[in-house]
Amino acid sequence: MKNKILIIISVIITQIIIAQNPLLIPNTLEGTNINLTLQNGTHQFYSGINTTTMGANGNILGPTLILNQGDFVNFYVDNQLGEATTIHWHGMHVSPENDGGPHTVIDPNTIWNPSFTILDKAATYWYHPHLHEQTTAHVAKGIAGLIIVRDSEEAVLNLPRTYGVDDFPLVVQTKDFDTSNQIITNSNSDDIIMVNATIDAALTVPEQVVRFRLLNGSTMRTFNFGLSGSQIFYQIASDGGLLSNNIPLTRLQLSPGERAEILVDFAGMSGQTVFLMSYASEFSNGIYGATNPGMGAGMTLNGYNPNSLNGTNFNIMQFNVGVPTTSPITTIESPLVTVTPIPESNANVTRSIVMSPVTAGANQLNGNFYLNNTLFDMNVINETVQLDDTEIWTLTNNSAIAHPFHIHDVQFYILDRDGNLPPLNEQGRKDVVYVKPQETVRFITKFETFSSVVPYMYHCHMLMHEDGGMMGQFVVESPLSVENNEFSNQLIIYPNPTKDNINILIEGNLSSDTIKIVDQLGRLIISEKISVSENNIQIETLPKGLYFLKATINNKRITKKIIIE
Ligand code: C2O
Ligand code: CU
Ligand code: CU
Repeated sequence: MKNKILIIISVIITQIIIAQNPLLIPNTLEGTNINLTLQNGTHQFYSGINTTTMGANGNILGPTLILNQGDFVNFYVDNQLGEATTIHWHGMHVSPENDGGPHTVIDPNTIWNPSFTILDKAATYWYHPHLHEQTTAHVAKGIAGLIIVRDSEEAVLNLPRTYGVDDFPLVVQTKDFDTSNQIITNSNSDDIIMVNATIDAALTVPEQVVRFRLLNGSTMRTFNFGLSGSQIFYQIASDGGLLSNNIPLTRLQLSPGERAEILVDFAGMSGQTVFLMSYASEFSNGIYGATNPGMGAGMTLNGYNPNSLNGTNFNIMQFNVGVPTTSPITTIESPLVTVTPIPESNANVTRSIVMSPVTAGANQLNGNFYLNNTLFDMNVINETVQLDDTEIWTLTNNSAIAHPFHIHDVQFYILDRDGNLPPLNEQGRKDVVYVKPQETVRFITKFETFSSVVPYMYHCHMLMHEDGGMMGQFVVESPLSVENNEFSNQLIIYPNPTKDNINILIEGNLSSDTIKIVDQLGRLIISEKISVSENNIQIETLPKGLYFLKATINNKRITKKIIIE
């Protein structure tokens, strides 16, 4: 009798272990009006068990936004959470007013209505809450969504791009649950792994080349992605754009906030199963995900051990190879796009950021971390950048744990890691870079288009570190805006100074359809009717000198300088 019960129990246990849940594929929202409602909800991570969650347009996560470069998009973010939050468009080049950082609070029962032109390159971005000291809680409870930007460069490539058919979002996260299966938001005991909020996820993939858009949406954990059997896959995009060529890989490390697009060739594998894994046994100590999260003797992190995910290889989800679609992609496209890194000689400013523990020593992992010896203060601007400057930032990690450094507003190019060129898959556009203990990483970027009234953020993307104050803020100063500086990001002029033509970007509703260019004496030089958000005006016939462009947007008169040289 006892044996019989044991057998029955072990059969049940085996079934629980091998039980697979179909991967949840978030819905999509497209077009130029995007409505997001932030709401509380419940989600069954385990069938029959309700867990309290937060989501956008649903109980957990949010829809995948599909946006086209050049489109002027209106967003309506309705906060029905019953508490304040923000929504940040991670990786996108938008004005600070539209960026959704901690200063742009959405109060409960109010709608935030940012609107902006999509200036980014085709890649995978994401959105998530960014409220001061509440980012961990709101993200861990479930608010996060992918943003797919499409552009004409990407459109001509022979790549899988049918969402949910041969192009799949994979939001990979770990969480910790209490004994009643509720999410513990501030935890280093995250041993529940999920993809698109699905535990033990399985996806049937077509027998052909398939594209995956990977996001490490975890609070703290880094993954060392790979396929079972170390099958080769090809990275085609980094955080903010396609790479110049596909990069064959068997491992791909992504820290919190980082994205990658990869291609996997499932041809000839019908009926087979492939696991997406993290080869965390290969991590050296000093990475959240290794056996020891700190580099150095006796470094412990409360709650970190024991945890079956630390320092071991584990499955993240499984792919069951089915039948091909009717017009499958069968090749791994190459080359992809022209990537033009900014030459080091273009930089006119260098800046350094040092990461260090607030309390040094063996217990340092449990404390907060400084950037340049200070903790974040909402009322302190840490750095001031001049519009159109190209800068090199040197990041030095003087702590015992690796930190993923993220900056808003820009995409950057990594110049070097400890003086060496970064690996090929880090030679494209990035907005998060992992900095290991004792490592120095330099990146180069240009601060274009937007000047600030509201500051932009830079921070560690391990959310408990961010909330603990490992964050700073910068403003971008522009000498070119003369009237209504506050609204200056509604009227963008580039290039400026210029020689023969200017592009004018209207980020709002034109109250009058005529824009005027006047000279220094106030004489009307050009009066032009415009109706769309992006306009090009030829000015090659004008003599060199200083001019003023005037427009009325949202009933505010905005004046900006134009320099013709
Ligand atoms: Cu993804 Cu400032 O964050
Ligand atoms: Cu960001
Ligand atoms: Cu950190």
